[in-house]
Amino acid sequence: MLAETTSFTLDGISARMIRVEVDVHRGLPNFQIVGLPDAAVREARERVRAAVVNCGFEFPLQRITASLAPAELRKAGPAMDLALATALLGAAGELKIEALAGWSLIGELALDGSVRPVRGALAMAEEARENGRKGVLVPAANGPEAALAEGIAVRGIENFHELACLNEGRIPGREAIPAAVDDSGDLPDLADLRGQGHLRAAVEIAAAGGHGLLMIGPPGAGKSLAARRLPSVLPPLEGEEVLEVARIASACGIGNGRVSSVRPFRAPHHTVSAAGLVGGGSPPRPGEITLAHRGVLFLDELCEFNRPSLEALREPLENGSVTISRAKGRQTLPSRFTLVAAANPCPCGRGEEDPRCRCSEVSARRYRAALSGALVDRIDLVVAVTQPSAEALEGPAGESSAEVRERVVMARELMSERLGPGRTNSEAEPGEVADFKVTASAAGLLAEAHRSWQLSGRAHGRILRVARTVADLAGSTAIGEEQMASAIQFRRRTVQ
Ligand SMILES: Nc1ncnc2c1ncn2[C@@H]1O[C@H](COP(=O)(O)OP(=O)(O)OP(=O)(O)O)[C@@H](O)[C@H]1O
Ligand SMILES: [Mg+2]
Repeated sequence: MLAETTSFTLDGISARMIRVEVDVHRGLPNFQIVGLPDAAVREARERVRAAVVNCGFEFPLQRITASLAPAELRKAGPAMDLALATALLGAAGELKIEALAGWSLIGELALDGSVRPVRGALAMAEEARENGRKGVLVPAANGPEAALAEGIAVRGIENFHELACLNEGRIPGREAIPAAVDDSGDLPDLADLRGQGHLRAAVEIAAAGGHGLLMIGPPGAGKSLAARRLPSVLPPLEGEEVLEVARIASACGIGNGRVSSVRPFRAPHHTVSAAGLVGGGSPPRPGEITLAHRGVLFLDELCEFNRPSLEALREPLENGSVTISRAKGRQTLPSRFTLVAAANPCPCGRGEEDPRCRCSEVSARRYRAALSGALVDRIDLVVAVTQPSAEALEGPAGESSAEVRERVVMARELMSERLGPGRTNSEAEPGEVADFKVTASAAGLLAEAHRSWQLSGRAHGRILRVARTVADLAGSTAIGEEQMASAIQFRRRTVQ
């Protein structure tokens, strides 16, 4: 007898529908899975066998062939267990699976029959809807997340034995309730950063306009402290963005199915490989930049990162996405993030100006190579951080994140009006930059900087984008002289 169900496999961060056909035939007992299964899918045989028996069903001692289609697509992970077991019992005549016509099944089976959560349940439920499925049976633990997909029925099940109700013509499981969006990120507050007015201003501008930020300064001045507080001044994720971020987190198995409106913050260690940073491997997996999508990627100790990793960041920084090519096709993953980086000026960290610095010219130059490359040319704001004074450290706390965020949100509203919903000044196209209103004196200032520093075309556009953000924070329609000056000085260090 033959029976068919449908399930899903993950391909990067998107789900692909798989037809699971099982044929049970008389012959020597045997269980085979064909259709490019990976190790986890092949092992499904053992899980399915144990779950079926432990849930009180009979495992057919016959010749069983399971085929996963489309055959050319590599199937990965254990999410197809439930569909396999169901089709198997359907083919053996033990379950009346007709009631499940139009439904898809996802879930990993434990040996006792419990249905374990899988990665990518949200993407799978959405793909089920795109394929015109009526509903999807998911592990109960994935229910809230999968139910965020609108326009499709989602039911959560805890144990395989619940499927016995199919024989009474009922759909198993319980209707899943969509997850509530959690906005209570317990984030560290910007009030902790004392003094450092210049750095504070840069953090605020970076948050408002989505501009990249590089902090260069001696150890213990508050660079990492400031970077880790950036998420607390960013506006929360909205609408579709929440789903986009949840979909990525779910496919990568992070966040425990929590759906949050707090922007992601990723801080990979400097030993990360290029593939770990931008994505890759076989099968291709999303990298840190995709996990940081719509949030912040923080590269602490920038000079310690290896060159290929940093070079690999250039394309995604420019495009907001990364394309990974492999023998079996290519994949484009989203990666629209704000880059924040911190570095010491030389290996000892004190900088050449400090008489205690003993670094040789050669070692300092080699160390700084990462700071002069094409990557840094793509960072809008460069801040030279100095040690905070004793008065500043003992003085009153600075402005809190909530106060700063209010201005950031207002500035972002102006940007959305100008550029379209959700877009920031750092993403403005050249044509849009040309439309920015600039006062005559501000234009004069930029022309002067251009002449004396021989700015690149890119640098010119970037100064204008930062100046636009400074003006938006001040609520002014045209970019004034003061705002232009402020943008120029954040560029200075890279130009020299
Ligand atoms: N401006 C500051 N305001 C308040 N605390 C500060 C400030 N600067 C440094 N500190 C204190 O010093 C600690 C170290 O600061 P932080 O880790 O930010 O240094 P850093 O600039 O990243 O140094 P490194 O270059 O060594 O990474 C902080 O956890 C904080 O307690
Ligand atoms: Mg640090």
